[in-house]
Amino acid sequence: MPALVIAGMQWGDEGKGKIIDYLAAGADAVVRYQGGNNAGHSVAVGEEEFKFHLLPSGILYRDVLCIIGNGVVIDPAVLLGEIEGLRRRGFSPDGLRISDRAHVIFPYHALLDRLEEERRTEDKLGTTGRGIGPAYMDKYGRYDAIRICDLIDEEYFRAKLPQVVAAKNRLLVGLYGREPLEVEPLLRAYLAYAEALRPLVTDTSVLVNKLLDEGRRVLFEGAQGSLLDIDHGTFPFVSSSSPGAGGVASGAGIGPTRIDGVLGVIKAYTTRVGAGPFPTELPPDQAAQLRDGQDGRGREYGTPTGRPRRCGWFDAVIARHAARINGVTALAVTKLDVLDPFPTIRVCTAYRYRGEVLTEFPASLRVLQECEPIYREFLGWQKDTTRAKTLADLPREARAYLDWIAETVGAPLAMVSVGWRREETIVVEEPWNL
Ligand code: GDP
Ligand code: IMO
Ligand code: MG
Repeated sequence: MPALVIAGMQWGDEGKGKIIDYLAAGADAVVRYQGGNNAGHSVAVGEEEFKFHLLPSGILYRDVLCIIGNGVVIDPAVLLGEIEGLRRRGFSPDGLRISDRAHVIFPYHALLDRLEEERRTEDKLGTTGRGIGPAYMDKYGRYDAIRICDLIDEEYFRAKLPQVVAAKNRLLVGLYGREPLEVEPLLRAYLAYAEALRPLVTDTSVLVNKLLDEGRRVLFEGAQGSLLDIDHGTFPFVSSSSPGAGGVASGAGIGPTRIDGVLGVIKAYTTRVGAGPFPTELPPDQAAQLRDGQDGRGREYGTPTGRPRRCGWFDAVIARHAARINGVTALAVTKLDVLDPFPTIRVCTAYRYRGEVLTEFPASLRVLQECEPIYREFLGWQKDTTRAKTLADLPREARAYLDWIAETVGAPLAMVSVGWRREETIVVEEPWNL
């Protein structure tokens, strides 16, 4: 199986970075295909931790090609900062390639992202403030977008940037009452970024297709998660891209028929960071038990922003929704160990809405707001799972819980993560062979 998609099945932060890093040991390439530095993917090597925002999570392996595809929005300052940070820690991100068709994030994108959030009262989205929405707006709006190939074409870029800045200043001054931006400092900074990035730029669609033609193993690294999907998530409380398997074809420039498998990454409970509906959310005192967990191992704090994540029980309605829209072929259940201390564990099997039982995730947030989760209880195991190397090492109650998740989601279990370290991973079925 050469093409394996790794997609988050909840509201992001499912532990995709850890799973990618684990599987990258047996891969030839890791490809990001959407999102930008709103993502924060944690990878641990020994006791050392890395947080990747734009760099694919395979970057620590010297012989794995790491590709940032055309569907990603790239903030060059952040990308160069991440590269520099890795170099300082003794790693050489030489295997990095970036798409000539990816769109570029400018400071006015992040500024507009924040100003728009500040302007709103009740209807803030709680974005990461990284300019992701405004950059995708420019991409789809077309007039004011600048791609990597445009950035490295100095003559074109020198002519284009003043026009774009003039358009942004109309908004900044007219709508938000801010000072206008100056072109010159921006031009200088971005021309310097262009020089630094130029050697990495290529047609990544050609590169990825070539790798697949040669039968190489390619991992497609989703950022965010299914419920943050612009089409299938809790709109408008979503991100501005297609994080699922559906986004891989357009965001990496491959045909959908080239995808061989989709590994859905799902936490053993649910979290969300930022605003928006969350049916199984727990009140703050109970949420803290999941957020911090025993000895602080829950670590439910936003990777890019440090915001505490909202926490709640596993929700089978969203899990089935995510499995369907992604065509999930196998599951990686993460953070099972965070449930270790609980005497009982609740799961939501369906929603009750005005006396009706809903088993499919509703489109309307007005409907969702009135939905009450229908819970079922599992007996907890109250034993440490972090040292388990096989399913058989897990307590019987934990195995029953995992079996139920696989059955209700309708996909076989391939991996179980029982801690943040690489070695705290159970491989049930080799995902490449599924
Ligand atoms: P991603 O965005 O999907 O890559 O997930 P994040 O890295 O944002 O958040 C997951 C957090 O949980 C990180 O701090 C990981 O180190 C940690 N983590 C991942 N898997 C496990 C696990 O199985 N158990 C525990 N306790 N922590 C985990
Ligand atoms: P990873 O890849 C969790 C959330 C933000 C906000 C909404 C819109 O680490 O799983 P945006 O800045 O994208 O316009 O914000 O989406 N969000 C994430 N939540 N994990 C992420 O990425 C996220 N990326 C965006 O908190 O609610
Ligand atoms: Mg994250």
